[in-house]
Amino acid sequence: MSKNLHIKTFGCQMNERDSEIIEQLLAQEGYVATMEPERADVILINTCSIREKAEQKVFSLLGALRTEKQKKPQMLLGVTGCVAQQEGMQISERMPHVDLIVGTQQIYRLPEMLDRLQQGVTSREIATDMEASFTIPPFQKLLTASSAIPVAAAQGCKRFVTIMQGCDNFCSYCVVPNTRGREISRPMTDILEEVEILAAQGVREITLLGQNVNSYGTTNPVAAQQVNFPQLLREVAAIKGVRRLRFTTSHPKDLTEELMRCFAEIDNLCPHFHLPVQSGSNAVLRRMNRKYTVETYLDKVERLRRYRPDIALATDIIVGFPGETDDDFQATMDLLNQVRFHGSFSFKYSDRPHTRSTEFDDKVPEEVKSIRLTTFQERQDTICFKRNCEYIGKEVEIMIEAKNATGIKGRTSSNHIVHCPDAPAPLLPGDLVMARIVHAGNHSLKGKIENQHE
Ligand code: 5AD
Ligand code: SF4
Repeated sequence: MSKNLHIKTFGCQMNERDSEIIEQLLAQEGYVATMEPERADVILINTCSIREKAEQKVFSLLGALRTEKQKKPQMLLGVTGCVAQQEGMQISERMPHVDLIVGTQQIYRLPEMLDRLQQGVTSREIATDMEASFTIPPFQKLLTASSAIPVAAAQGCKRFVTIMQGCDNFCSYCVVPNTRGREISRPMTDILEEVEILAAQGVREITLLGQNVNSYGTTNPVAAQQVNFPQLLREVAAIKGVRRLRFTTSHPKDLTEELMRCFAEIDNLCPHFHLPVQSGSNAVLRRMNRKYTVETYLDKVERLRRYRPDIALATDIIVGFPGETDDDFQATMDLLNQVRFHGSFSFKYSDRPHTRSTEFDDKVPEEVKSIRLTTFQERQDTICFKRNCEYIGKEVEIMIEAKNATGIKGRTSSNHIVHCPDAPAPLLPGDLVMARIVHAGNHSLKGKIENQHE
């Protein structure tokens, strides 16, 4: 008899992809994914610890699930992801109602762990070993297993493909090197095989995923294959059926001229680039251990725009990093005004366990962080709106992502969401159509479909 699985995912695209992998692995064991936690035989909380707030959310949800577990003791409750990795002991001690704690490197073991719990062989399963991050086989095992499993049609026309795991950069504020381990690149043959399987199933948009995709192939045995990220991009782009190609996330220090050139030369590489800058002050960047300056960042932005004038740039910003002065923050605002990002994710700095910046003096008061965040976000909203207005009157290609009673939602290759209220009926998710932009808001565009080009 099939069992129902509910996964609640917090955090980044890496986590979204991990949740998909878990779903795929467990589908082989007869689990059926459900959106309704009350119907689930197994609930997994896939957690994120990148910022303090994300971690707090996890602990309050786990607390709230205590009563559910009391009402339904046979239901299994598990925690996966970065919080499980980092705070496994704390969860184990404070949360006796949690049956299963699985770190970031061990999710491929979930089927056997769930089996043991269900058979009553064990009453609790904990796997937070990080050794795996230093050795290739478990990593390959996980990814190869997941790529062999067909993707459910409902999962749509766009997919993530993991090309590397972990991070070796040790930015001073970041938990990722601790929670996801050292950087490991996946062999190119496995990546290409996975993309071919997806494209054959009708997936049209691929996003290559890693903490720092720009350094793909440089840090482990994959280097022996002599493949770098631009070469990988060209190979993936050439696979039949891949209509749109994206990647995330990039580190500015590893952005090479060769990669920039790809934006001019690869037709199906989308003109959209997420390039986290974090701060506009060199003093802050130094303390963040980012290994680039504002000047080199701006120079790369300029060169990127020369290669691809319509490229939409997005970034991440941390405000209130320890020691950030008013002048440092002003430098971030100056950078925002100069680059005029198409979008950004901005956060108040928070201390994370075992990171270097936790030890830094001169912590910025919470009220100051809040004011700086609002100032930044208000200015970014204005810029977004102005940028969006630049699309009015233009004809753009959109890929349909969703359809409902009020019309369709599509996305441009520059990653803008376009709502089309009066779209023709036969359109389906995955279809590529041309739309004329007729209206701009802060966060999306409104379009009119003019002709269907396929
Ligand atoms: N505090 C605030 N923001 C952080 N980020 C990473 N660590 C922290 C932290 N300790 C942000 C960075 C990163 C994004 C994913 O999260 O901007 O690019
Ligand atoms: Fe964290 Fe820096 Fe690695 Fe990004 S590059 S995951 S911010 S350590």
